[in-house]
Amino acid sequence: MVSREELLQRARQAALSAHCPYSHFRVGAALVAGEQIFVGVNVEISSYGLTLCAERSALAAAVTAGAGPITQVAVACIDAPAQAPTNERTPCGACRQWLADLAPHATILIDGVEGDFTVGDLLPYAFGL
Ligand code: THU
Repeated sequence: MVSREELLQRARQAALSAHCPYSHFRVGAALVAGEQIFVGVNVEISSYGLTLCAERSALAAAVTAGAGPITQVAVACIDAPAQAPTNERTPCGACRQWLADLAPHATILIDGVEGDFTVGDLLPYAFGL
């Protein structure tokens, strides 16, 4: 298991590479899959709806590598103001579904929010096939 602070730090570091020329809201995600760490950032596209969130970027990297089960996921919104509420830091609905499908047993860590979340906390009664 990677420590909470280490994984959050990896997410913060990744966020520095975010491509977000429209929102200027940098997000990084770092996850543990098997023995490996994968990171992702938000990638914004001029047709805004095509934007990819940091969480899905990291999840896709882990799947692409054929990595082991995903056990921890950290998310850092490094441009969120210090006083920003939890809902300005937590994964969006689409990312929650990706987490439910690809990391259902993971512990979710959110930078700036105390405590850990399960995927069930974030997306109760998730759809699944
Ligand atoms: N964003 C993420 O990367 N993850 C989320 O779960 C929520 C939002 C990104 C998308 C967009 O580039 C920026 O944050 C502002 O919405």
